[in-house]
Amino acid sequence: MDKTAMLTLDGKSYTLPIIAGSEGERAIDVSTLRNQTGCITLDEGYGNTGSCRSQITFIDGEKGILRYRGIPIEELAEKSTFVEVAHLLIMGRLPNSPELRYFSDLLTDNELLDEAMKHHFEGFPAHAHPMAILSAMINAASCFHPELLTDRQHDCFLVQAARLLSKVRTIAAFAYRKSRGLPAIYPKPELKYTANFLHMMFSLPNRDYALTPEVVRALDLLFLLHADHEQNCSTATVRMAASSHANLFASAAAGVCSLWGPLHGGANQAVLEMLQAIHQAGDDGSRFIAAAKDKHSGKRLMGFGHRVYKHYDPRAKIIKRACDEVLAELHISDPLLDIAKHLEEAALRDPYFIERKLYPNVDFYSGIIMRAIGIPVEMFTVVFAIGRMPGWIANYKEVMESSARICRPRQIYTGPTLDHYTPLKERK
Ligand code: ACO
Repeated sequence: MDKTAMLTLDGKSYTLPIIAGSEGERAIDVSTLRNQTGCITLDEGYGNTGSCRSQITFIDGEKGILRYRGIPIEELAEKSTFVEVAHLLIMGRLPNSPELRYFSDLLTDNELLDEAMKHHFEGFPAHAHPMAILSAMINAASCFHPELLTDRQHDCFLVQAARLLSKVRTIAAFAYRKSRGLPAIYPKPELKYTANFLHMMFSLPNRDYALTPEVVRALDLLFLLHADHEQNCSTATVRMAASSHANLFASAAAGVCSLWGPLHGGANQAVLEMLQAIHQAGDDGSRFIAAAKDKHSGKRLMGFGHRVYKHYDPRAKIIKRACDEVLAELHISDPLLDIAKHLEEAALRDPYFIERKLYPNVDFYSGIIMRAIGIPVEMFTVVFAIGRMPGWIANYKEVMESSARICRPRQIYTGPTLDHYTPLKERK
């Protein structure tokens, strides 16, 4: 295979190196293009732009493959846990027993928030979206760890990572309690990561939430399946912030804001709202599908389509199966699941979706599991954010350990050419 690419521009030829990844993906290295030719590349939405080299996650969207550090997502979903996978993503390998114990202990040691942070929660209005609270409070948490702001060579990255990973779950649960006017429930050190989150979400001061293995496992699986997804919008945001040497908490807070949008992580909330609207309208889904195909309707089939997957999202397959299992185990019959399945079948038969290779993505069925567990709709994207934290942390670490330059894209300016200041009285 060619090791270089030739570009002809204004009658001159330029040689550009080809970079190959470990799975055979190829890229034309344009890092010297502007110096050599005066031209830049333009790729709005970055569909053809590699922003970095990364060793964390591999996706083959045509074949529906997703691997964390080389391990297929299907194997991890079946055999692993969220905490193990977090270690895998952040440290590059599955932990052995002492490493897992050490990491779990770190998570427990860092589960409390500084008491002063309680005042910050008090300041939010009752209807505040928990994603707003989450991003604000992650940033606020950095103020209680001033070494994050000054020390680039953190004492030990795993300690910082565990601190963020652990506190984010406490912040998320407190944000929910605040939005419901309920008192904050403190974490219990004897509970593992996911069980502790459920406890902080649903226990009452006078009555502990009854944890069941089915519910704990289902939520742990959701966290695990969301743990990383290479250079998606929020991870690219985290890397962008990290490239300016912003601290870990600030970079993660930026990721939360980016994840919030309905075209990204906010889609899980949008899917459930769409299913509820279809249900309330007495539609079997066909009217909604017709609207989603009409560009003027402003509607899309939420939970369908993906920039990278042009095949079934492997996470959606696992979640669909888990959805059936969890609902059966909890003896729940949810009409929204029937609507979702019907929508999926109809869309997968429809030429509009077939031609555009639009398949269910990770968000299509995840909301139904969360609803069965009792997680309210406005917390869905927060659950996604907790799950995605290890991926953001791993990507942050990769940026900090590299000699990468600050991310600073160029643009093609299309605004007015030189103009001059008009005094106010002369303006029309
Ligand atoms: N419903 C209807 N039509 C769709 C949908 C959809 N969900 N998704 C894409 N299309 C159509 C577009 O209108 C476009 O049609 P055209 O070629 O006739 O103009 C074509 O498919 C390509 O769509 P793009 O928007 O160019 O695809 P892009 O890669 O930019 O967007 C995205 C991907 C944002 C995920 C899109 O498919 C979408 O909006 N899906 C619904 C929201 C969603 O589920 N987001 C979650 C994604 S997964 C995640 O972030 C965790």
